[in-house]
Amino acid sequence: MTVIVAHVGDLHVNSSVGLMPPRVTLDDGQTVLQSATQHWLWDNWLDYWKRTAAWKRRTKARVVGIINGDWGDINVHSQFQLIEPVNPDIVLDMMTEAVEPMRRVCDAIFVVRGTEAHTGGSGFLENRAAKEIGAEKNAQEHTHSWYLLEAEFEGVKLTSSHHPGTSSRRPWTKGNDTNRRAAMDIYNYGGSDWVPDLTLWGHYHYYSDSGNTHSIRAIYNRSWQVKTAFSYRLGLANNVSEIGGLWVFCHADRFVVRTKQYRLPRPEPVCLS
Ligand SMILES: [Fe+2]
Ligand SMILES: [Fe+2]
Repeated sequence: MTVIVAHVGDLHVNSSVGLMPPRVTLDDGQTVLQSATQHWLWDNWLDYWKRTAAWKRRTKARVVGIINGDWGDINVHSQFQLIEPVNPDIVLDMMTEAVEPMRRVCDAIFVVRGTEAHTGGSGFLENRAAKEIGAEKNAQEHTHSWYLLEAEFEGVKLTSSHHPGTSSRRPWTKGNDTNRRAAMDIYNYGGSDWVPDLTLWGHYHYYSDSGNTHSIRAIYNRSWQVKTAFSYRLGLANNVSEIGGLWVFCHADRFVVRTKQYRLPRPEPVCLS
């Protein structure tokens, strides 16, 4: 049997520029609707899961979903750009509702913890939301989430964790990040009985792939959040906004990676005549 690993991360539900269900009712009864950009995010989110369902039908595969951290967002750095700034109960409802299209397609879901500044101390929001949706249990830690998920599907060994610990954002350093990461993985698993074929990461909100440069392949996945005020501060103002997810098709000890990206159209320049 084929197993399709549908890998998504950095959803940042509750960020006003992240993934958001079509409508949210706050504690005081106020209804908040999606912005035009969030509508675009949601449409593409539905498209990604529609495509996953189509792959599942076509290959008669089992689908394993992985949420690779930053599922929700209570940004402790700044309450600016949050839909619900105070009540985690509302945020939890928003998070579980947002992954409903994912739940309908996946036979199992694994939840990986993201950045504490976004999902609370020891990723409590993610762990709680994972329980709510009946995600897989981490029997070793007695939790419903992982800092590092090490798993084997149809003989393919892979890991999923949020923080890769090394990045390279500039165009002329492209690829250095995942090459370094792959080398780190080879070093870290050296001499072990269990060595991954593929390591999957998130946090930086851009795609990078070491390909076959090393014996372990490392990939950074895209996010489901467009630029925040902080992104502009990082000098990313005119970078292309690209979101998306990937699939790992696992069959008879071999794997194939397919990615799906969605590119936010650039705004029309101001033009006076
Ligand atoms: Fe993130
Ligand atoms: Fe993060």
